[in-house]
Amino acid sequence: MTETTHQHQHGHAHENTGQHWREPARVRDFVRRMDARAQERAPQFELMTRLLGRDSDDAIRVLDLGAGYGAEASAFLRAFPNASAVLVDGSEEMIRVGGERLAEFEGRYRYVHWDFGEGALPADPGGPFDAVISSAAIHHLPGAAQQRLYGEVLASLAPGGAFLNLDLVKPPDDALEARYREIMQSEQAAREEEPPPPSNLERHHSNLEALDHHLGWLRDAGFEHVDCFWKRLGSALFGGYGPGRD
Ligand SMILES: C[S@@+](CC[C@H](N)C(=O)[O-])C[C@H]1O[C@@H](n2cnc3c(N)ncnc32)[C@H](O)[C@@H]1O
Repeated sequence: MTETTHQHQHGHAHENTGQHWREPARVRDFVRRMDARAQERAPQFELMTRLLGRDSDDAIRVLDLGAGYGAEASAFLRAFPNASAVLVDGSEEMIRVGGERLAEFEGRYRYVHWDFGEGALPADPGGPFDAVISSAAIHHLPGAAQQRLYGEVLASLAPGGAFLNLDLVKPPDDALEARYREIMQSEQAAREEEPPPPSNLERHHSNLEALDHHLGWLRDAGFEHVDCFWKRLGSALFGGYGPGRD
């Protein structure tokens, strides 16, 4: 199995920064749900790979934040057969499942066990990176930590590299939030999916930030060509490019 580096975060980890992903039962439930939705997620992951604007044989370096079992990193490793990836995650159980799921990419990826709950990247993660990607992870952090993380991401990019975050965003108002929730619940029912574990959905989503905030933070951090590239209800793919891109 590919080597995993363990790094310890200074300071203490907060309960609402994604700690619940350390519970094996929750990880199993998540993996089962995501497997059922693999076809639905594939177009967004493919769009992320295309937004890099790189040739498929380029030996790009990818950093995946909150990589989980490696769903989006796999899309990049497949689309760019010479690419390598560093997968950062705070959950040992996710990393364990990732070791099984990523077997076909052996030698091209490495996990770093690290908690970025305070907005800090691991020391020397192995950049500079042509792409920093993330899916459904950064929303666990409080806004100030998300902002700090965006600054660190920019510093880790190779010239013109891209940061692409596919994540949950806060709907613009309560009426839309209720409408989005209704639609998602009826879609879950149509898929015959059980409702998510009740324990901490509210806490889990308590840090959601509006898309406009994210775009502003990215511009303030110094990203260029900042945009929302795709959006459906409360999910959005947004990001920007580091200086040095035409
Ligand atoms: C909803 S899962 C998404 C996994 C994967 N990106 C995907 O889309 O399939 C969230 C992941 O982010 C990780 N995560 C959440 N907060 C984190 C933190 N503060 N530090 C490191 N990883 C974190 C969790 O361990 C989990 O693997």
